[in-house]
Amino acid sequence: MRTLIKHLLAATDAKANVTVKGWVRTRRDSKGFSFLELNDGSCLSNLQVVVDAGTPGYAEITRFTTGASAVVEGNLAPSPAAGQRWEVKATRIELLGEADAAYPLQKKGHTMEFLRTIAHLRPRSNLFGAVFRTRSRLAFAVHQFFQERDFVYVHTPIITASDCEGAGEMFRVTTLKGHGDDKPAADFFGKPAYLTVSGQLEAETFACALSNTYTFGPTFRAENSNTARHAAEFWMIEPEMAFCDLHGDMDLGEEFIKAMARYTLEHGGEDLGLFTKFVDKGLQERLRFVVERPFQRVPYIEAVEILKKSGKPFEFPVQYGHNLQSEHERFLTEEHFKSPVTVFDYPREIKPFYMRLNDDGKTVTAMDVLVPGIGEVIGGAQREERLEQLRDNLRYHKLREEDYWWYLDLRRYGTVPHAGFGVGFERLLMFLTGVSNIRDVIPFARTPGSAEF
Ligand code: 4AD
Ligand code: MG
Repeated sequence: MRTLIKHLLAATDAKANVTVKGWVRTRRDSKGFSFLELNDGSCLSNLQVVVDAGTPGYAEITRFTTGASAVVEGNLAPSPAAGQRWEVKATRIELLGEADAAYPLQKKGHTMEFLRTIAHLRPRSNLFGAVFRTRSRLAFAVHQFFQERDFVYVHTPIITASDCEGAGEMFRVTTLKGHGDDKPAADFFGKPAYLTVSGQLEAETFACALSNTYTFGPTFRAENSNTARHAAEFWMIEPEMAFCDLHGDMDLGEEFIKAMARYTLEHGGEDLGLFTKFVDKGLQERLRFVVERPFQRVPYIEAVEILKKSGKPFEFPVQYGHNLQSEHERFLTEEHFKSPVTVFDYPREIKPFYMRLNDDGKTVTAMDVLVPGIGEVIGGAQREERLEQLRDNLRYHKLREEDYWWYLDLRRYGTVPHAGFGVGFERLLMFLTGVSNIRDVIPFARTPGSAEF
C-alpha cells in the first residue's frame, strides 16, 4: 500500500515498511549513501529519503535525476536534519520513468511566462502545485458555503441561444461548414447557438422554484481583452435568491468573500505560507483585514465624484454614464477606501436588461464588489421582476421579446423579487493567493491567440 507524503510527514510515530511513490526533485550523493528529495504533489514539502549504498536498487542511483518517477520502500524515522521531522530510510528503491537532462524544471528559478509555455509540467513546480491544491480546496469551500445555507446546486447549460449580458461577446457553436450566418435554421440546433457567458437566466428559473440556488461552472467570453484579469474560458459561481433584494444580495456577496478569505487562512497551510513568502508578502495581513472589517458601500454616482475629485491622472476619463475602468476600480478599493468596496445603483445605459430599474428611472439595482489588487471580483443585481418594466427594458436594450419568452414567463406566473451575483472563480483565486495573472490560477488558460494544451 502506497502512503501519500503528506500523511507520512504528519505522522505522530515512526513507521516500518512504508511505500511512497513520486517524482525526484533533487538528489545529493555522499560517500556511501545518497539523499533523494521526493514529491508526490500531496503537499508542498518533499520527503527526504536516505539511500545507503547497499540498498537494493542503488546500483541505478545516478538515473534518479530531477523529474524522474520512483518507488521507495523503507522505514519512516525521525530526521536529524533541521526543518523536517521525518525522513525515510530506504530498504528498496525502484526507478519508474527516467527524466533526462532536457527536463525543463531543473532546480532553478523560472519566470511565470516561461512556465506558461510548459503548462503540462508546471503543476510539478512548488508554486503551481500550491496554486492548484488551493484551487481544489476553494472549490470545495464554495460548495460548502452554499450547501450549509440551503442553496441548491443547479447545472445550467453550457450551450445556449441567449446572450445573458447582451454584450455580444459569445463564441458560436455550429456544425455548419464555412459561414453559416445566413442559414441558421440549417444548423444543429435550428438557430444560432453559443457557449454561455453566464448561467444566470437559467438559474433564475430555478430560483423561482427552489428559492435559493447557485451554479458553479465554466463560462466563455470572446472579449478580445488581453489583460491579466480576463480569460476566454473561466469558471463562475452564481448564487440566485428568490425573495431577495439588492441589500440582501450585497450582504451575501460580502459574507461570501469573507468566508473564502477565512477558509484560506484556516486551511491554506504551507501553500498559503508559500504565497506569503514568495508571491505577496502582505497576503495574510490583507486576508485578515478582509475577514474582520465590514466592506465599504458606495453608490455609483458618489464613486464617480470621488474619482473626479481624486486629481489622479487616469488613462480613461471619469464620466457619469461610463463604465468604471480597472484603474478606477483599483483606485477606489486600494487608495481611497483601502478596503473591499461594493459599488451599487449604476446608470441604466451601461448595465444589462435584466437589472431592476430604480424609482429614479435612471439607475438600476446593480452591484459590483471591488477588491484590492484585482478590481471587480463580483458583479450582480436585483432582477427586474415586473413584467411590463422588463418588456420596457428589453425594448430599451433593443432585444427581441420572443427570444426571452420563457424568461418573461417567470414574471407572468408568480413573480417574486429576486437577486443574485456572479463571482469569477479565477479572480477570487488571484485575490486569495496574491498571484497576479489569471493565466496562472487556471490549469490551461484560454486567451486571445492561445489555446495550447
Ligand atoms: O459582471 P459579470 O459579467 O456578471 C454576469 O455575468 C452576471 N450574469 C452574473 C450574475 O449576476 N449571475 O461577470 C461576473 C464576474 C465578474 O465580476 C468577474 O469576476 C468574472 O465574472 N468575469 C471574468 N473572469 C475572468 N475572465 C473574464 N473574461 C471575465 N468576465 C467576467
Ligand atoms: Mg461585471
